[in-house]
Amino acid sequence: MPDPSLDLEDLTRQVLNSEKYRSISPELVKDLLTRELARRAKPREAVKAVRSKLHQVGSAYQEKPPPYTAWLADLASLPPDLRDPAVLSFIQRVLPAHASTRERVPILPRFFRECLAELGEISSVLDIACGLNPLAIPWMPLKQDFTYTACDIYADMIGFLNQFFLHFQVNGSASHADVTQTIPDVEVELTLVLKTIPCLEQLDKDAGRFVLNAIRSPNILVSFPARSLGGRSKGMVQFYEQHFHALVSGQPWRINRFEFPGELAFLIRK
Ligand SMILES: C[S@@+](CC[C@H](N)C(=O)[O-])C[C@H]1O[C@@H](n2cnc3c(N)ncnc32)[C@H](O)[C@@H]1O
Repeated sequence: MPDPSLDLEDLTRQVLNSEKYRSISPELVKDLLTRELARRAKPREAVKAVRSKLHQVGSAYQEKPPPYTAWLADLASLPPDLRDPAVLSFIQRVLPAHASTRERVPILPRFFRECLAELGEISSVLDIACGLNPLAIPWMPLKQDFTYTACDIYADMIGFLNQFFLHFQVNGSASHADVTQTIPDVEVELTLVLKTIPCLEQLDKDAGRFVLNAIRSPNILVSFPARSLGGRSKGMVQFYEQHFHALVSGQPWRINRFEFPGELAFLIRK
């Protein structure tokens, strides 16, 4: 008789049975559980290890599940114009709910403008492991009728981003994807891989190289944190700069480097 404690559906429910993890894609949880069960004696330990991984790669960036219901109510009362001051102030209120975009708020007026200056106005973007970054669209140099594709692992985040696109009539869509396994199959001019490689490498040590090779767009904006979540910055720029160069070594790609307070970025032109 199979050991009932090894039922993958049941263990998945155990992992997801907490406010922090409830909205995470069950496929990702099952995949991580399968890997942990192969190397641990007790299913309970595998559940604990998967929760700890999910904390490191996702929940650590959101102190608690963001108040999407309240935000959707606010969104409904806003004019459908991404340049409207009331909309910009709503976005600036929402972005700090995710640590990655919170850290980017002070540099938003410069970040995309400076990193993407060489590309002119962009017609299509893929934002992988996006967090709340699609809300920074008003600060990106985009063509009038741009398209925007985004993915992450949280169902509630994806639902909110799709409502955001709908409200502002952005030709965009957000969906679930575990980008350590697959990159959404869309033809775009630019892919954003912002502050994500160190997270993905906690799930799979080869994920950084996989992602950079699998992305088909001619331009990729990659960035790394220049400070830890706790605020320490010692040596991080040098560390991630070396790591990035190791990931792209041997590739014939052109690379531009940009350094901002809190974020180190590279524009790859394939
Ligand atoms: C450090 S945050 C970066 C967020 C965003 N790119 C930014 O810079 O604002 C990492 C993001 O990766 C997402 N993530 C973690 N593992 C993932 C995976 N396997 N596939 C897709 N997204 C993932 C997390 O939910 C989180 O939103």
